[in-house]
Amino acid sequence: GKDGYRHYMEKELHEHPLVIGQTLQRMIDPANRKVVLPDMPFDLATVPRAVITACGSAFYAGMVGRYWLESIARLPVDIDVASELRYRDPPLAHGSLGLLISQSGETADTLAALRTLRQNAVHILSVLNVEHSTMARESALVLGTVAGPEISVASTKAFTAQLTVLACLTIAIARARGTLDPLGEEELVAALLDLPSRAADVFAQGDAIRRMARVVAEARDVLYLGRGSMFPVALEGALKLKEISYIHAEAYAAGEMKHGPISLIDRTVPIVASAPFTPLFDKTLSNLQEAKARGGRLLVFTDTKGAERVSAIAEEMVVLPHVHDFAAPILQTIPVQMLAYEVAVMKGTDVDQPRNLAKSVTVE
Ligand code: F6R
Repeated sequence: GKDGYRHYMEKELHEHPLVIGQTLQRMIDPANRKVVLPDMPFDLATVPRAVITACGSAFYAGMVGRYWLESIARLPVDIDVASELRYRDPPLAHGSLGLLISQSGETADTLAALRTLRQNAVHILSVLNVEHSTMARESALVLGTVAGPEISVASTKAFTAQLTVLACLTIAIARARGTLDPLGEEELVAALLDLPSRAADVFAQGDAIRRMARVVAEARDVLYLGRGSMFPVALEGALKLKEISYIHAEAYAAGEMKHGPISLIDRTVPIVASAPFTPLFDKTLSNLQEAKARGGRLLVFTDTKGAERVSAIAEEMVVLPHVHDFAAPILQTIPVQMLAYEVAVMKGTDVDQPRNLAKSVTVE
């Protein structure tokens, strides 16, 4: 049941801290605080590159994974949505790592992409929530997200669990490739282990999130912005808003705004930005200032270190605890999903069963 929550989505949003914690428990040895993966049927140290593919939210999790794998493990990464990858016929380096991400393990396009990759001698590692699924059976290795069943059609906790697995996988690959020393690993693991309690802190921001939601609920179009690992968080926020509130939303890498979308900006198009205090904070802030100068209304997710400077320009802001850059996309996802939920509740839509959508897309 819904355990007293109004919708399954609300219940599942509240499971973020638990799910992140359970997923970490599966992948981190508490005694020496190191990532421990199951035995691999291939050598992570020698894969020449990774190909990541998935659909929808799972694809956005993969985009964060690319950011981590490139910057921390120095592994070259290709990424595409499964519906494109399956027909692209790309040249694939023999022995590459194919990273498939899916909550259900049954998504038709992701499964077809898996088969294409496997036929091209790519090692298949799937990040799955349903561990007895078709994709699980066809993978060389499965890393499970310990999210439990997700009933709401809109994905919430499965997404942060996917990010948690990809973060741990990044650490393991980086160690294998010699790009992360023990001290570096300790720092990243500590950042992850801190997440369940920081995630629980997000729920104290309900009032601030609802104030933002009142602005968004009146809009016909909304622009989401983020840079670096916050760009996929913006994409996830825009997808969730479209999916359950039926408000049109687009996400842009903040630096792309001046190449076109800036002409959309006026009082009627609120801008939702994910801008915690990471090394790209100043860059994002200057993009937001440009938007404000053109009459844009800024609704900004930030953290305690970014709050003072954000408050000077934002109409509404949500301040989360400051966490390590590595963990920031996981934490910052939660309020962005909560915003979509609150807007949908205000609009009175069928939150758990949005129109035209199915939980598992098993046809092409
Ligand atoms: C978004 C959403 C969808 C799924 C996508 C992939 O909230 O639920 O975009 O993420 O259909 O589904 P899985 O992960 O089952 O392959």
